[in-house]
Amino acid sequence: MAQELWWASPSFWRKTAIWVTGFSFVVLIFLTFDTVKQITAGSPRVPAYSVINQRIDYVFDEKRNFQVPVVGPEEPLFGQKLSEAEAATLVNHGKLTTQAKNCMNCHTLLGNGSYYAPDLTKSWLDPSWGSKEVREQSMVEFLMDPTDKLHNAVGRRMPNLGITEAEARATVAFLKWMASIDTNGFPANFKPIDQADAPEPATAEPVADAAPVQQ
Ligand code: HEC
Repeated sequence: MAQELWWASPSFWRKTAIWVTGFSFVVLIFLTFDTVKQITAGSPRVPAYSVINQRIDYVFDEKRNFQVPVVGPEEPLFGQKLSEAEAATLVNHGKLTTQAKNCMNCHTLLGNGSYYAPDLTKSWLDPSWGSKEVREQSMVEFLMDPTDKLHNAVGRRMPNLGITEAEARATVAFLKWMASIDTNGFPANFKPIDQADAPEPATAEPVADAAPVQQ
């Protein structure tokens, strides 16, 4: 009787299958914890909720070769500086509103959802709000009664979802916070609203005003 080859024996492959499954299981558990850490507010890519107290921009990064959010000088939402806890409550209220009103039924958020209406990841920076001076109020008014406002003319209208003023303001906070998330350049080729205080010289390095705290 011919000698059985070790690599052809069923028991070898059974053991291999068990070890590979076990190893992958451990790796997946590790990756799950690592991902949770990376997507938690207050991590390098997902700023803490109090980022809504600051200006958010979206500028081209030469090194990474795509646009990245840049947290700028203090620019509190609705002119009111909030503590970390107050900001967290407000943003959370906004997030719950987007879930309760099912914005994802038409929109995408961070690329997830439906393609009927524009992606909302950077809607805080959409030039269609006019100017940064009127943006917050325009957003609140739009969310509360969008039916008669042609926003950026995708050819469709957003229906009135019965959003209260408190919900609209919280949603704006949520959208501002979302605009600060580092999404590896998504959405690409996005032209943000002009919010510079003075026109920048043509030679300006956009990344130069990236970290105002480090002066
Ligand atoms: C039934 C579909 C639908 C639902 C649900 C919906 N929207 Fe919209 N939304 C639209 C459409 C269509 C537009 C584009 C309107 C335009 O350009 O005139 C729009 C535009 C917007 C804009 C402006 C987008 C930009 O680029 O600046 C914002 C902000 C917005 N919606 C927020 C929301 C939020 C927040 C919710 C949930 C509370 C929501 N929408 C739910 C259809 C919807």
